[in-house]
Amino acid sequence: MNSQPTKRFYLTTAIDYINSRPHIGQAYEKVLADTMARFQRALGVRTRFLTGTDEHSINIFRKAREQGLEPKVFCDQMAKHFQEMCTQIGVTHDRFIRTTDADHVETVQELIRRIHKNGYLTTGTYEGWYCPSCEAFYAEEDLADGKCKIHDSIEVEWIKEKNFFFKLSAFQQKLEQLLREQPAFVEPEIRRNEVLGKLRSGLQDISVSRSSLEWGVPFPPEICAEHQVDRQVVYVWFDALINYATGVDVFKGNDLSDLWPADVHIIGKDIIFFHCIIWPAMLMAADLPVPKQVFAHGFWLSEGKKMSKTAGNVVDPIEIIEQYGSDAFRFYLLSECYPGNDGNFSRTALNSRYTDLLANDLGNLLQRTISMVAKYLDCKTPALNSKVLTTQDQSLIALFSKTFDAYIPQMHSFYFNEAIRTAWTMIKQLNKYIADRQPWALAKAEDKTELHNVLRITLEGIYLSGVLTLPILPEAASRIFEQLGVSLPNNPLIAYQFPRLLEGHVVQKAEPLFPKLELDA
Ligand code: MSP
Repeated sequence: MNSQPTKRFYLTTAIDYINSRPHIGQAYEKVLADTMARFQRALGVRTRFLTGTDEHSINIFRKAREQGLEPKVFCDQMAKHFQEMCTQIGVTHDRFIRTTDADHVETVQELIRRIHKNGYLTTGTYEGWYCPSCEAFYAEEDLADGKCKIHDSIEVEWIKEKNFFFKLSAFQQKLEQLLREQPAFVEPEIRRNEVLGKLRSGLQDISVSRSSLEWGVPFPPEICAEHQVDRQVVYVWFDALINYATGVDVFKGNDLSDLWPADVHIIGKDIIFFHCIIWPAMLMAADLPVPKQVFAHGFWLSEGKKMSKTAGNVVDPIEIIEQYGSDAFRFYLLSECYPGNDGNFSRTALNSRYTDLLANDLGNLLQRTISMVAKYLDCKTPALNSKVLTTQDQSLIALFSKTFDAYIPQMHSFYFNEAIRTAWTMIKQLNKYIADRQPWALAKAEDKTELHNVLRITLEGIYLSGVLTLPILPEAASRIFEQLGVSLPNNPLIAYQFPRLLEGHVVQKAEPLFPKLELDA
């Protein structure tokens, strides 16, 4: 667990295949990354956040053909849905990369040149059944009566392709050493153990080009010529992984380049082999530093079952956002489980989180406090008289610092669910404090000192709630500051000191943060 903020932070998500519309798993990954990016920025860290789309897959090529479109035209249409999803979730990426972007194509070719120069590319033969209409290889068991299942009117051909191979096996020991010396390279531990297991079973060299496909990044032509190999395109995973290097202009030697290596690649647990074995080996082969960490999150089930189109239980992130708002969507995903574990999407749980934690605990706290400040104090933030604090006042003030101190390391180490629990323990205490101290009764007293103290401490607690929820509930947090009448604080997570508000500051109109849900019966 790293609780020391670094001065720069480069984080990425996996880049999505875009052959169909975005799903909740892809949305979740962006929520995780965006929460970390916002957290780092609030710590005053120079942050770069990359997300995007993986466009050279055979499925995309096929889907475009089915629709009679050029693959790039199809990609342009589909990429828009993914960009729109990012906007709807409130994702604050610095770049949305597409593997069809010209600078990415250049980076892929340059990295391959370096790997080649260092002697880690060889040529070899790749053999298999080939369907010319699919432009894909098939294993014997993938065929039906010896024919392609999609194109059964044409004969499949036995193809023997001369391809480039990456000498992955040469990195066995170096990768073992990496995992030994940099144990946090793969998180959580269960995934590190899987990677270690894979390493122990031995690594094979992998084919990294295709001569039968036309959709992809061209393999550097001079390398093809040198090895007397016909034109090839780069294997889609080799191409896609390099997006992380393109995202910071790794070969350009500019202001962004010094952000390499990445601090964390956030990915799903299904693609750890590519990220924790192939990718660091590619970087080692090109003499580039490897990322500091790969964080592999779990998978979302839907109402206890694997999500699939056939089961009809696929959760559409956009539909949820339209119904509950993006903050509630983020909050639910983040609060439900530790990201390293699998999650189970359930409407019942989502509804109760919304109503109990967001609308009641946080929303009501803000609304009734602001209303009382308006009613009893003419909207003005009261003074604090620290000479007459009760034990309960003092312990609540102490809880503020304790909460802040517990929250920071939880956020650093992706324990977002725990950080939410930490913040909500304080929020619940603030509600209890109001119930116990009854400002409406204190307002009747001649001496208003106690009323002022209670409302001031509550306002301070609300301010801190806004600070702590800034990476998680960005819209609600900014509305909290708006209603408190203060501007969005600059780098508020660097340190916490009580008090943070100013006496006499005017609060704004009380508005519900999370309106009552209108759900279909
Ligand atoms: N294009 C590759 C990644 C290349 S990264 C250099 C890919 N794309 S994907 O669209 O299939 O998946 C994108 C991300 O979503 C992956 O990290 C994947 O693990 C994640 N998820 C896909 N389904 C998921 C769930 N049901 N739940 C959570 N995340 C899931 O893989």
